Amino acid sequence: MLTLDALAATRSLVVCVGPGGVGKTTVAAALAVRAARAGRRTAVITIDPARRLADALGLDGLDDELRRVPGLPLDAAMLETKAAYDALVRRITPDPGARDRILTNRVYQSFSRTLARSHAYVAMERLYDVTASGAHDLVVLDTPPTRSALDILDAPDRLVRFLDERVVGAFVGEDARGPRAWLRAKGTAVALRLFGAMAGEALMEELAAFFEVFVHLRAGFAERAAAVRARLADPTTSFVLVTAPDPTHLSDAAYLRDGLLDRDTPIDAVIFNRAFHAAADGAPLARSAGWPDEALDGPPGTERVRAAARALRAHLDDDNATFALARARFGAALPPTTARCALPVLDAEPTSLADLAALLDRATAPQGR
Ligand SMILES: Nc1ncnc2c1ncn2[C@@H]1O[C@H](COP(=O)(O)OP(=O)(O)O)[C@@H](O)[C@H]1O
Ligand SMILES: [Mg+2]
Repeated sequence: MLTLDALAATRSLVVCVGPGGVGKTTVAAALAVRAARAGRRTAVITIDPARRLADALGLDGLDDELRRVPGLPLDAAMLETKAAYDALVRRITPDPGARDRILTNRVYQSFSRTLARSHAYVAMERLYDVTASGAHDLVVLDTPPTRSALDILDAPDRLVRFLDERVVGAFVGEDARGPRAWLRAKGTAVALRLFGAMAGEALMEELAAFFEVFVHLRAGFAERAAAVRARLADPTTSFVLVTAPDPTHLSDAAYLRDGLLDRDTPIDAVIFNRAFHAAADGAPLARSAGWPDEALDGPPGTERVRAAARALRAHLDDDNATFALARARFGAALPPTTARCALPVLDAEPTSLADLAALLDRATAPQGR
């Protein structure tokens, strides 16, 4: 079975998917730190990192540029949709005039902010950009929370389809004299003129201008989408599913698990985070491990403390048993080739690079079915 370190040591792209709030970003960062510590030139693209994690990685959140993490061959970026769209437009619109027109265009601004699934598009574009640079041995990609993670897989095709939709085609393609001419042309759909009347002439102008510049964007999209699709299907790409062992997260994770398998995307590892309470030696607490009762010997009243400790311990034991059962159930639907391992509930959230690296030391040995 593949260990997490082997994953970090051998893969060129690791995509971490999972429900929100399970520790996906933390695990993505931990994998990246491990790889970088082993000497691999690594990049981690995070989404919405917890404040302290962002601090540990040196991300100030002002933009989505890759930043070097001091002391390691590790670059980190925080993906922010609006900033990433702007960067995208800058990269692929060489003409500064056209670039400024699109960046200040109201239609573009609302498009870039609200386009459904825009996170997936942006992640796709960012991934293309980072992998195409060839500057890294490993890229670790964190994905948006919840079920939309599957959109990362679907984004390349969907994006191309979106851009080929008739409305876009109409604006950018059907009238050789350009979208403005098309809009003003005799016989232009009454509906569109009505729309113009409702939206106002100025907005119609901006809409036309947006699509005019959009032609530039469209040219490269299909090509980049194809490259990303190939990259995601590459044998050196691994998908890692991160989840917590409680019913709500497991049900979201099951949706992702099945969605990935439906798309013939192998899941190399499932990481159950916050999946057990650990004893002082790091091993999962177990009722059979015996009680440190002697530690509680002492003055009158100790018996009550001891009883409380016992009750707490029994509670944690029960949690561990429940979690273990839930993990086994979840794992039964996975192919035997998928490694599964568990990470403990930590006493404190990881706040430094050392904490992140140490987190994976506490993983249980990977198991197959
Ligand atoms: N094993 C763990 N034990 C305790 N806290 C954790 C653990 N893993 C992550 N956390 C904390 O949980 C919070 C959510 O983690 P995060 O990685 O941002 O989740 P996600 O990316 O899935 O939304 C963060 O504050 C993080 O530090
Ligand atoms: Mg996150």
